[in-house]
Amino acid sequence: MIPIHQRQDTIAQVFQKRFGRLPQFWCRAPGRVDLMGSHTDYNLGAVLTLPIGRDTWIAARANHTRTVNLHSLNLNADASFSLDSSNKNAGQSWIDYVHGVAEALHEEGMLLEGFDGVIHSTVPLCSGLSSSAALECAAATVFETLGGWNLAPLQKALLCQRAENRYVGVNCGILDQFTSCMGREGCALILDCRDLSSKAVAIADGIGIVICDTKSKRELAGSEYGERRTQCEDGARMLGASALREVTLPQFEARAHELPAIVAKRCRFILEEHARVYALADALTTGDRAAIRELTAASFEGAANLYEIAAPAMHAMMTAMLAARGVIGARQAGAGFGGCMVAFVEEPMVDAFSADVRTRYASATGIEPEIYQVTAAAGAGMI
Ligand code: GLA
Repeated sequence: MIPIHQRQDTIAQVFQKRFGRLPQFWCRAPGRVDLMGSHTDYNLGAVLTLPIGRDTWIAARANHTRTVNLHSLNLNADASFSLDSSNKNAGQSWIDYVHGVAEALHEEGMLLEGFDGVIHSTVPLCSGLSSSAALECAAATVFETLGGWNLAPLQKALLCQRAENRYVGVNCGILDQFTSCMGREGCALILDCRDLSSKAVAIADGIGIVICDTKSKRELAGSEYGERRTQCEDGARMLGASALREVTLPQFEARAHELPAIVAKRCRFILEEHARVYALADALTTGDRAAIRELTAASFEGAANLYEIAAPAMHAMMTAMLAARGVIGARQAGAGFGGCMVAFVEEPMVDAFSADVRTRYASATGIEPEIYQVTAAAGAGMI
C-alpha cells in the first residue's frame, strides 16, 4: 500500500496541474469484503461484512459554478457534468456514479455546489470489493462538506444505493453502500438487511483475512445478477412470502418440490447462506477453526452448485487457497462470476499462504493473482 502522505502529495500535484490550485479538503470511503452472505442482501437476509483499508479518495475544491469537473488518477481521464442536468448516459462511465449521487441528493432536497476534484482509489475496479460504492459514498461526503449539511451515515448509504439503482441502473442491494458508510475500524459487522440494524463482530486474535484476486473481471450490471434476483423474488412469491428472509428452512423443505428446480436451488442457497452468517460470526469470535473451514467450504459449494456464480477462475483459486500453508477456510466474495475471493489464514502464516497461492494459481491458470491481507477500516468521512 502507498503511504498516506505520499498518496496525498501525488493527488495534490495532479490537482494543481489539472486545476491550477491546491485542493481544499479530502474525503474518503472504503471498499468492503463480505465474509459470509453472498446475495442475501436483496433477499433481506443477513451479511457478515468487513469495510477494508483499500479506499477511494476525492480531493476537492469548490469552484462556485454548477459544474462538477473530475479527474480520475487511476484511469487518467477527465469528465464533467452539470448539476442541473440528468444522468442520461447512466451506467456508461465512472462519472455516472458521481452524477447519480448528485441526482439522488438533489431529489432529497439537498443543496449542491459545483466542485473540481481528483479521484484516486486503491479499491481494484470491477473486482467485487465495491469500488462503485466507495466512489459513491466518497462523492456524497464531498457534496455534504460543500453543502454544509449533515447526513446520518445510514441515510447516506440509502441515498447512494438509490443512486446506483435508479441513476446508474444496477439493481444492487444495500450491502456495499451500508458497509462503506457504516464501517468501524477494527471490527466486522453483521448487517441485517430487513431492519438495517448492524452489530459489531470481533475476530479472534491470530486470524488474518486475505483477499485473493483472481484477476478475472466481472460485470455486475450484466444480466446474471438481475436474473438471480428475479429467481429469488419468484421463489419468495411462490412460497407466499414478501422476501426469502421471511421463509424458514423447514417451511422451504416442505414445499421445495412445488418450485421449478432452478428456483428451488437458488432459494436453498440463500436460506442456508443466511444461517451461515450467524454461525460464521460465532466461529470467528471464538476462533473455532474447524467451523470456519466447514462453513466457508459449504458457502463455496452452494455458490458453485446451487447459485451457480462460480467462474472457472474461482474454482482454480479455491483449489490454490485450500492447498496453501496456513489456510483455515476460504470462499467467494462479492457477486461472484470472477473477481476477488477471501481466505481466513493463521496470521503468522499470511506470507507463506500468499506465496503458495500465487505459485499454484499462476501455474494452474497462467494468470498472476493479487493477494493481500486486509483489516477493518472506518466508514466514509473526511480525511
Ligand atoms: C454486489 C451487490 C451487493 C450484493 C453482492 C452479493 O456486491 O452490489 O448488493 O448483492 O453483490 O452479495
